[in-house]
Amino acid sequence: SKRAPFVIANWKLNGGIDLTCTSVASMLNKQFEVKIGIAPPYVYIGDMVSFLRNSNIMVGSQNVSKFASGAYTGETSAQMLTEVGCQFCLIGHSERRQVFLENDHSCHTKLEKALANNLMPILCIGENLQQYELGLTNDILYRQLHQALPGLDLNGKELCIAYEPVWAIGTGKAASTEQVEAVHSFIYQELVEILGVEKANRVHVLYGGSVSKNNVAELLSTPHVNGVLVGGASLDPEHFSEICTIAD
Ligand code: G3H
Repeated sequence: SKRAPFVIANWKLNGGIDLTCTSVASMLNKQFEVKIGIAPPYVYIGDMVSFLRNSNIMVGSQNVSKFASGAYTGETSAQMLTEVGCQFCLIGHSERRQVFLENDHSCHTKLEKALANNLMPILCIGENLQQYELGLTNDILYRQLHQALPGLDLNGKELCIAYEPVWAIGTGKAASTEQVEAVHSFIYQELVEILGVEKANRVHVLYGGSVSKNNVAELLSTPHVNGVLVGGASLDPEHFSEICTIAD
């Protein structure tokens, strides 16, 4: 049975006041059944929360600190994000892992912080091109899931996983439906092993990597795909709203 999918926008280091305003305007233009979230850079979160206060669109962050408070220059805590109205945060995006050297251990700590502060975590996992070509996809995903998830207190909490093959991010080449189906069923199987079937069934597992209006319908009709994480296409408000309409 299919639950209402999640359509999440990740702006990365893009956008500004203008995109914040035009995106909000295009999202408020329509009523969507599908659960939509937007993660702009931190500094636009407050404005976006207030512009979207009468909608059911979630605002989120692209990262969260593994620390609660203290002498950690440049960091933003889960509690602060919740206080300003964030409802979700991305954790362990491949760009954070590659460029900022985040690892499975820091992801686990960030998951704890997010859950404790009622911020829905979206843990991003995925293999890079070399790992994909060596046939290591399942090994990488196994490690990423089994090191980040065990020991979390998920009682009454929501959790998302985003499968993003690194070779499909920003390339215009999404994974094929067959690949996505195989990987998502592997992820589901591991979630059942780690969390038990009841909690695993509540996790939304999203696909990310060159999602567009041209492939979103097929991706969302793939078994065990419960949503999409959209990068580049979310920077064009009209394109993003079309993706939401198709997902709706
Ligand atoms: O978080 C979003 C992903 O990295 C996908 O980015 O849609 O530009 O390929 P993309």
